Amino acid sequence: MNIKLLKLKLRNFKGIKEFELDTQGKNVNVYGDNATGKTTIVDAFMWLLFDKDSKNRKDFEIKTLQPDGQPIHGLEHEVEAVLDIGDKTITLRKVFKEKWQKKRGSATAEFTGHTTDYYVDGIPVKKTEYEQLIAEIADENIFRLLTDPTYFNEHLHWQKRRELLLEICGDVTDEDVINSSKELTKLREILGHRTIEQHRKIILARRAEINKELERIPVRIDEVQRNLPQIDEDKNVIENKLEELREQRKNAEERRVRIQSGGQIAELQKRLSELQANLISIKNSIKEKAEESVRDERKQLATIEDQILKRQMELKRLETEQKNNQFEIERLKKQIEEKRAEWYKVNSQEFEEEPPILKEEDKICPCCGQPLPHEKVQEIYDKAVAKYEAKKAEFNLSKSKLLEQISVDGKNLKNRLEELESNYIQREKSIKTIIDEIQTLQEQADSLAESIKTKSNNLPVIEEHPEVKKIQREIAETENKIRELRSNITDEINKVTEYIKNIDKQIAELESKLSSIKQLEQGLKRINELKAEEHKLAAEYEELEHQLYLIEQFTRTKVQLLEERINSKFKLAKFKLFNELINGGVEETCETMYNGVPYSNLNHGARLNVGLDIINTLSDFYNFNAPIFVDNAEAVTQLIPTRSQLIRLVVSEKDKKLRMEYENNIKGVI
Ligand SMILES: Nc1ncnc2c1ncn2[C@@H]1O[C@H](COP(=O)(O)OP(=O)(O)OP(=O)(O)O)[C@@H](O)[C@H]1O
Ligand SMILES: [Mg+2]
Repeated sequence: MNIKLLKLKLRNFKGIKEFELDTQGKNVNVYGDNATGKTTIVDAFMWLLFDKDSKNRKDFEIKTLQPDGQPIHGLEHEVEAVLDIGDKTITLRKVFKEKWQKKRGSATAEFTGHTTDYYVDGIPVKKTEYEQLIAEIADENIFRLLTDPTYFNEHLHWQKRRELLLEICGDVTDEDVINSSKELTKLREILGHRTIEQHRKIILARRAEINKELERIPVRIDEVQRNLPQIDEDKNVIENKLEELREQRKNAEERRVRIQSGGQIAELQKRLSELQANLISIKNSIKEKAEESVRDERKQLATIEDQILKRQMELKRLETEQKNNQFEIERLKKQIEEKRAEWYKVNSQEFEEEPPILKEEDKICPCCGQPLPHEKVQEIYDKAVAKYEAKKAEFNLSKSKLLEQISVDGKNLKNRLEELESNYIQREKSIKTIIDEIQTLQEQADSLAESIKTKSNNLPVIEEHPEVKKIQREIAETENKIRELRSNITDEINKVTEYIKNIDKQIAELESKLSSIKQLEQGLKRINELKAEEHKLAAEYEELEHQLYLIEQFTRTKVQLLEERINSKFKLAKFKLFNELINGGVEETCETMYNGVPYSNLNHGARLNVGLDIINTLSDFYNFNAPIFVDNAEAVTQLIPTRSQLIRLVVSEKDKKLRMEYENNIKGVI
């Protein structure tokens, strides 16, 4: 698509009251002094399409500002463009104005904000429809890239620039780089799953580690060397000598044991034990014989003491019974006395009721009050007498029964009393007999005890017994003999011990030498190990260096391939895509260059032409052309050719008002 600007109209836009740019789709130059509104034209075009100014700002003042900084109110600010979009023309218009509303009842209108009206081909449309239409024509980013020669270099972040270039030219993969040279194919195996950068880091880290190790190893060797013992004796000679000495020591040790457990002493020891056992058994038998004479008497004494004890217990029992008996007698006597008193009391009781007497009222009928007949009266009286007699007889009978009972009870008590009294006398006799018996037995016991005591005192002293004395003498003799023999072998044992000590000393000396030799051997072994390690590390270091060289080679190739590929797409612009780092690696960048000079150091003219060169390549890539606004175009005497419509904005002091010319008059443009 090739979009061309046919017409652009501004009204009250950023201070431009009225301006119309009628390009007719051609390349044009717009002349004007400073502050005549050249840049404002670009602002207007961008605002119409994307709501932003030429510097990509959304927030800028559209309304006309007065010298005091205040905007003029009530104006309509509008931009209109007629575009050729290939197969048709389209008119876009945007009007920005203040909103004033009258409140009910109020005479004056109040400012309530802004509105923007959108028109396509003269027909009002909604904002969304308008934006949709623009989006269909062009993507904002691409549009900006293709209409502003400074946009790519001055507004895009370098990463975005790089991405864009890689998108256009295609990236060079690591695999591409590896395949590009035979030397690099080795890297495939070396890398495994790691990236070049990861592997480079690993190598650098490992190399630093190896360096440290290599520095340490000589220090360690030196340390081991310094601690090596000085010894020049032969290990075998020492070992043989040691073996000999150990044999000698063993023999001496055996000799010492033999002396210690030596023959005669052992025999005498045995004899001594026998004598001591004998002595004990003889003493026991003497003691037993001596005690035989008193043994019978001791037995008799025990029997008598037993009898005494039994009788004493019997005596105690009888005495207790006697006490109880006495107590019972007293109680019975008291009861008998009571019975007697009771008998007298009962006996003195008489029937006290009076005999019946016939009274006058008894002769009258209690019912009718008539006097009763005589026989009736007699009958009543007789009955009363008979009843009285019967009661009296009953009283006498019960009295005589009670008296009889009391005297029976009294008799029984008397019988029991007599029995107890006879028991008492009987028991008293028994007690007396037992007391006598105890006394007799005690006398016998005393005399036996006396006899036992006398005999015991006269027992013979065991230690004085001639047989005991004989054995004791023999024991003392044997002990003396043993002591004597022992003192003789002590000398001999001392000699052997001294000999062993001497051997031990020699052994210790030789062992110490042997351990020094072992230490020496170990030290030398360690030195050899360290040297081998040093060798190995050096080899590894060399290998790493080689790998590093390959990686550098890889990087150089990659940079070269990529930059070649990208640069081939541009006529003027070249790109630096990597920065070389001090540590040998590279980091990504994206710097535009021209003739070896970075963009930031370029002159304005060169910047514009480099920008146009980039726009040309991008336009080809997107197959999209749009009018390019070259602001400050006076800086370039010759712009490179482009397929897009060019709108040059040129400072021209003499033009106090904007003036437009068509391309025929533009110097140097095809
Ligand atoms: N909102 C505004 N209201 C009134 N005047 C404005 C407003 N915004 C900018 N101006 C003024 O409009 C004038 C035009 O500015 P513009 O940047 O378009 O000039 P120019 O022609 O590009 O100048 P130069 O050659 O220096 O780049 C300037 O004097 C500026 O101060
Ligand atoms: Mg300007």
